[in-house]
Amino acid sequence: MSAQNFDSTSGHQGQVKFYNPGPVWVRPQVLHALGGPMMSHRSAAFSELYGRILDKLPKVFRTKVLSHTLATSATGVWEAALVSCVEGPVLSCCNGAFSDKWGEMVKRLGMEGDVVKAEWGKPILADDVKKALAAKKYAAVTVVHNETSTGTISDLPAIAKVIRENSDALILADVVTSLAGTKMEFDEWGLDVAVAGSQKALALPPGIAVYAASERAMTRAKAKKFRGLYLDLVDVETFGLKKQNPTTPSLPLLYALDVQLDHILAEGMENRWARHHAILAEVEAWAPKAGFRFLPESKANHSPTVSSLFPPEGIAPDDLNKALKKEGYTPGSGYGKFKASNIRIGHMGDVDVLSVKNYLAAIDAAVAKIRATAATAPAGAPA
Ligand SMILES: Cc1ncc(COP(=O)(O)O)c(C=O)c1O
Repeated sequence: MSAQNFDSTSGHQGQVKFYNPGPVWVRPQVLHALGGPMMSHRSAAFSELYGRILDKLPKVFRTKVLSHTLATSATGVWEAALVSCVEGPVLSCCNGAFSDKWGEMVKRLGMEGDVVKAEWGKPILADDVKKALAAKKYAAVTVVHNETSTGTISDLPAIAKVIRENSDALILADVVTSLAGTKMEFDEWGLDVAVAGSQKALALPPGIAVYAASERAMTRAKAKKFRGLYLDLVDVETFGLKKQNPTTPSLPLLYALDVQLDHILAEGMENRWARHHAILAEVEAWAPKAGFRFLPESKANHSPTVSSLFPPEGIAPDDLNKALKKEGYTPGSGYGKFKASNIRIGHMGDVDVLSVKNYLAAIDAAVAKIRATAATAPAGAPA
C-alpha cells in the first residue's frame, strides 16, 4: 500500500480544513465510536475491549513490551515516569516550550535536575548530551523527540544511543507528536518510557495518554519505595496484565482508540510515516515560493507533523490566521517565543496530502488578499 492510495480520511480527501497542531482533525468514524455503551471497567466486556487495545498498541510503539493507556493527558505520563521510575538526578534536554516544561516538572517535584539546552528552533545534539553524561551520573534523561512549539525534530535514536553507551540513565522520551507520524522505534532505539497523547498524530480526541515502558524502567520502578498512587506505573502494569486500569478509565476514548488503532494498523506504520513525510515535502516545496521560512534552519530538523513558519515580510501572522478563519479553516498560531512572529501548520494524524495542498493554496490566497487590501488602503489607515 502506498502513501498515495490509502484514503486515510475515509472519504475526506481534500476536505480537511483543520490545521491546529493538536487537538487535530478527527475522522467521523472515530467520533462516532465515542458513543459506545457504558459498562463496568471490571467487566469481562471491558477486558475484551482493553485486551484488543493492549494487543495493538505495541505495534504502534514498535515494541515487544507491554504498552498502556492512562486517563491523563501526555503531561500526566511525564510525571508518572519521573515519580514511578526515577531515583536520582535527572538530565532534561530542553529546546522548546514542552521540553522546557518537562525540565521544570523535575524541579517542581523536588528532584535534582540539570539541563542540556539548545536554542528554540534548534535540535538537541547527541554530543551535548554525551558531554553532560561525562560530567555527572544521572538516573534519567528526558528528551522530546518532536518539539511541537517550534516544529523541530531531534535525532532521538542518536541521542538514545549516546545515553545507552555512556550511562545507565533511563531514557524518558516524549513522542507526543512523533508517534504514528514519523519513524519511532521503541525497542530498536532502546527507549525506557515513551509517551504520547491521543490528540496528536494518533488523531483521536484529547483525554488519554498512551505509553510503553521497558523492563528496565519497570524494574527500577518496582525497587522504588514511594511512587505515589494515581500515577504509579507499577499499578498500571499490574492491572494491565488483567486487561484493566487501576482507576476508572475514559471508556469513550478507549472505544475510539480501539477503532483508530485498527485504522492506523490498516494503513501500516511505514505508510503512515510516508504520508506525513509526503505532506512535509509539499510544505517544503511551497514555502520558498510563497515567501515563508521554516524556523528550524536545517531540513533534517523540519518536523514531519508540524511546520513552524515565518510569513513573508509585511504579513502579520495574526492577520493571516484571521483571514484563514474567515475561509472556514482552523489555523495554528506560533507558540511561546514565536507566538507573534510565526504560524504553525499542524499536519499530523489523518490529514491527507491533497487537503494540505488546498490549505497551502488558501494561505497564498489569504496573503494576496492582505497585500491587495494594504495596497488600496489610504495612507495612514489602519491595516
Ligand atoms: C511535544 C509535546 N509534549 C507534551 C505536550 C503536552 O501534552 P498534553 O497537553 O496532552 O499533556 C504537548 C502538547 O502540545 C506536546 O506537543
